[in-house]
Amino acid sequence: MASRQGFCRIRRPRPAEWRAVTRLVLRSKAHWGYPGSFLAHFAPGMVVGPRTLARGDCWVAARGRCLLGFVARRRGRLDDLFVAPEAMGRGLGGRLLALARRGGLAAGHRCLTLDADPYATGFYRRHGARLVGWRPSPWPGDPGRRLPRMRLPPANASSPLPARGR
Ligand SMILES: CC(C)(COP(=O)(O)OP(=O)(O)OC[C@H]1O[C@@H](n2cnc3c(N)ncnc32)[C@H](O)[C@@H]1OP(=O)(O)O)[C@@H](O)C(=O)NCCC(=O)NCCS
Repeated sequence: MASRQGFCRIRRPRPAEWRAVTRLVLRSKAHWGYPGSFLAHFAPGMVVGPRTLARGDCWVAARGRCLLGFVARRRGRLDDLFVAPEAMGRGLGGRLLALARRGGLAAGHRCLTLDADPYATGFYRRHGARLVGWRPSPWPGDPGRRLPRMRLPPANASSPLPARGR
């Protein structure tokens, strides 16, 4: 299944696209203004490998050969959600999140949990997520940093899924 959202097409990724997906993830993360040294430190842990892409619930948004978005869910967890800086603020993040929530619901996971980038918590709150705790950053060499753990409520209850992107 693939769908079109005006400026891009949302479809399943191909495992061979893992380098392009990883580049998108790093570019998106850099949007928050983290120092280069910080990003370089995390880059190895942010590689999205072919096995992840071949697995169940991943989607990419693409315009031609250019990837603009990526979302990955594993069971009841939202593992990744990244939008390219040039595509932010156009509803794509919400659309990808909706797909992951819908997939989770179909697989029997009414709620999704995630460990949010602190800058992205407003986005998730906008979609009905609640802060449920804090967890230490999983990255070595990052002592003291904690990430907000959030829970998205059942998609069909508190926040209706958008039928289409903007
Ligand atoms: C967070 C992210 C996925 C949002 O994607 P996006 O395509 O820009 O978001 P949308 O355009 O779908 O925004 C949906 C709504 O959330 C709001 N929103 C988006 N980012 C927000 C933020 N950082 N804080 C508060 N609200 C935000 C939008 O204003 C919009 O609200 P509206 O419908 O009332 O206008 C994107 O900024 C991103 O990829 N950031 C870098 C990577 C990252 O941190 N990912 C999350 C990892 S946990």
